[in-house]
Amino acid sequence: MPPELRIAESAAHAGAEVALRHFQDFANVASQVKPGERSFNRVSEADVESEHAIVEIIRREFPDHSILAEEAHFADANAEHLWVIDPIDGTNNFLHGIPQFGISVAYYRSGQPICGVILNPARGDSFVASRGDGSFHNGQPVSVAEHRRLDEVLIGLGFYYDRGALMEATLSAMRELFGHDIHCIRRLGAATLDLCMVACGQLGAYFEYELSPWDFAAGRLFVEEAGGQVTTCDGQPLPLAKTHILATNGHLHETMLGIVQRHLP
Ligand code: IPD
Ligand code: CA
Ligand code: CA
Repeated sequence: MPPELRIAESAAHAGAEVALRHFQDFANVASQVKPGERSFNRVSEADVESEHAIVEIIRREFPDHSILAEEAHFADANAEHLWVIDPIDGTNNFLHGIPQFGISVAYYRSGQPICGVILNPARGDSFVASRGDGSFHNGQPVSVAEHRRLDEVLIGLGFYYDRGALMEATLSAMRELFGHDIHCIRRLGAATLDLCMVACGQLGAYFEYELSPWDFAAGRLFVEEAGGQVTTCDGQPLPLAKTHILATNGHLHETMLGIVQRHLP
């Protein structure tokens, strides 16, 4: 177990505790629209406090490491020792009282994911992965499903915060997928947890035409360590930057690429 994993776990739990406390009174959580964004892209006091709690623990243990976190920490993604944090993934769910949100903490060394922890505190779920050691859901090893055909699976997707070209592209990819008799589409609202669901075999694939590094930093390792595959929507290795993303159980990767790449804006 890498030494950073223990800290990733306690940091994620500190964030989860903050998030859960606010979630119990979600209707009264203060939030505001992010600068330059529209009404549906908000930051709440819970996001900010959770990030603060997570960062405090990492800084105490590793004062020299860099931190890239969604709300207020903007390190260079190329730093040798880098922590990538989403203090609450699924803020819209959170603010509407839907128990589908995640706290995500990942540690990268020289650009490579070393370990990651994602918690869904409202459901008491933990997802932990470390490079070469596998993925664990509530302490039990997980692996992707064996499905090889689209007419055997559910597909997850997200719309980022775009209501223009990306949204239209997502809708047209979705329409094509329905033509392949997929069991259905799921838009669950927390990218970190969508990735966990691919790893646990619940979704055959998940894609999104734009995502930020904190949305996938831990989840991509969780999928890979569970035997799945994660690339950009045109089949390139995933950069630690804003990008499009396709995660699958591996068997469906080529088939899914053929579809998501065709609609890529
Ligand atoms: C968002 C969620 C959502 C996804 C968006 C993300 P946030 O994260 O993961 O499911 O569709 O692209 O930005 O803003 O709630 O942390
Ligand atoms: Ca997020
Ligand atoms: Ca977030």
